[in-house]
Amino acid sequence: MCGIVGIVGTQPVAGRLVDALKRLEYRGYDSAGVATLENGLMDRRRAEGKLFNLEKILSEQPLPGTLGIAHTRWATHGVPNETNAHPHFVEGVAVVHNGIIENFSELRDELTAEGAVFTTQTDTEVVAHLLAGFRREGMDHKAAMLAMLNRVRGAYALVVMFADDADHLYAGRFGPPLAIGHGRGEMFLGSDAIALSPFTNKITYLVDGDCAIINHRSAEIMDYTGRPVKRASQISQASAFLVDKGNHRHFMEKEIYEQPEVISHALSHYVDLGAHTIKQTGHDIDFAKLRGLAISACGTAYLAGLIGKYWFERYARLPVEIDVASEFRYREMPLSTDQAAFFISQSGETADTLASLRYCKEAGLKIGAIVNVRESTIAREADAMFPILAGPEIGVASTKAFTCQLAVLASLAIEAGKARGHIDAAQEKTMVRHLAELPRIMSAVANLIQPQIENLSRELSKFKDVLYLGRGTSFPLALEGALKLKEISYIHAEGYAAGELKHGPIALIDENMPVIVIAPHDRFFEKTVSNMQEVAARGGRIIFITDENGAAASKLETMATIILPNVDEILSPMVFSLPIQLLAYHTAVFMGTDVDQPRNLAKSVTVE
Ligand code: AGP
Repeated sequence: MCGIVGIVGTQPVAGRLVDALKRLEYRGYDSAGVATLENGLMDRRRAEGKLFNLEKILSEQPLPGTLGIAHTRWATHGVPNETNAHPHFVEGVAVVHNGIIENFSELRDELTAEGAVFTTQTDTEVVAHLLAGFRREGMDHKAAMLAMLNRVRGAYALVVMFADDADHLYAGRFGPPLAIGHGRGEMFLGSDAIALSPFTNKITYLVDGDCAIINHRSAEIMDYTGRPVKRASQISQASAFLVDKGNHRHFMEKEIYEQPEVISHALSHYVDLGAHTIKQTGHDIDFAKLRGLAISACGTAYLAGLIGKYWFERYARLPVEIDVASEFRYREMPLSTDQAAFFISQSGETADTLASLRYCKEAGLKIGAIVNVRESTIAREADAMFPILAGPEIGVASTKAFTCQLAVLASLAIEAGKARGHIDAAQEKTMVRHLAELPRIMSAVANLIQPQIENLSRELSKFKDVLYLGRGTSFPLALEGALKLKEISYIHAEGYAAGELKHGPIALIDENMPVIVIAPHDRFFEKTVSNMQEVAARGGRIIFITDENGAAASKLETMATIILPNVDEILSPMVFSLPIQLLAYHTAVFMGTDVDQPRNLAKSVTVE
């Protein structure tokens, strides 16, 4: 999604604004721009594509000024080109915006009828025209800002600069995140704490319906009626160094190999890795009293939730209702206060997931948030926050966050099973001991399979369509494998429950469609092997991902067999994530796609 930065500074800001934008690149974008004010003159530089295009323009045509705003744009309205890049200027007003102005077309018609001339295809431009109009009517900057915020509708984070006000920046937030950074004699605005981390770690997050006016020393925060409101500041956890790739070619590769380490961080928060027991983390979800659990999330986070469903139902006998967040609240499913609702989100800012959280909160359910960003909106609005401690995940395709979400869900399922009397002390010890082995096993597996996967990916990159199959918790993993492959290599891929093969997908099987079968030697293994025989009998080519017992039990001819160690069933989803992540990664590398920032994708989808 878009990224926003603003500085009310005492030294030139253009270069620092672009540096801060670099910390927001992971959110995904397709153009960028910066605007500054110097001696009453506002000027800007904008560029399509990556930030080095903007830096090149700035090196040729520098921007002076100690007041400025900057933006990385992920196109929602209007093609990604320089004209549509922010900041948008209208008569001495400059605006940068993250989100969607839902009533922009009626505002555009109204403003056009009043003589406004639009020069872009963006929804953002209506904000600049509204502000210019209110200023022409004689409103001061604050009144114009409040009037505009009361006119626009939708999800937005906005930062505004006026050519005739060299001392302030103006902000409004309803939906996508926006934070104030407190510096020494300088103040900042940014989409998140990572963007502001080079300047300060003292952060004040705005909440929906906040308007803020910042000068060099302080911030005035109010609601849209102008009534002052108080917002606590906090010391952010975001690190000041730019997250770098280390000795990896891409953030995604680095994050795949970070999994053993970050999973150990996640586990150590929820389980005693020495005593092999579940820790009391002090949350107020009483699993013993729950009649049911609702889970909602998007994309990979949803697929983690799908695996969690199997675990909560199997180990805690807790019925789980799960749906993708964009469908969840529109189903109007019957909810009751003896249910809890869990929301899983790496960014903690996904609009659909946040909307589903608010829907359940409205219904009086206890809210749990399984998140990677502890200061995020979803984290702040939950009753119980379950951090996954994966560290900043920069690659748009989620990897370490997925397996850390699974580690947390597995811990919570054991905790729930224990609280509900379905897991006794001995079983708890056994299951937690298995979890404690996970970092070591994943580290061994990643190095074990890398060469074979890299060679196999060269083959896979030649195909146009791929099918993934799995049963039990390997079924959501089949969906995740397909999502990983399609989102970074752009090869069409579908995941299916293996048992569904005969109900349609088998019509697709021929030598042009590799079938990736995820099958640890568990209680579903024989049934999945018979599915593989159905595929082989029709000339299908099988990539078999199994374990040592599975490889010994199946004599089938395959395109490749990837053999992982035998592990307890509760570890399979995390361990079997590695081959599907590495397969997608290396295939994308062979395809030459932008692995860390795949086309059209954003790291955090903060619009519905
Ligand atoms: C995963 O590889 C995708 N980038 C995407 O599906 C992502 O999982 C989804 O947008 C949810 O994001 P969140 O976890 O930040 O809410």
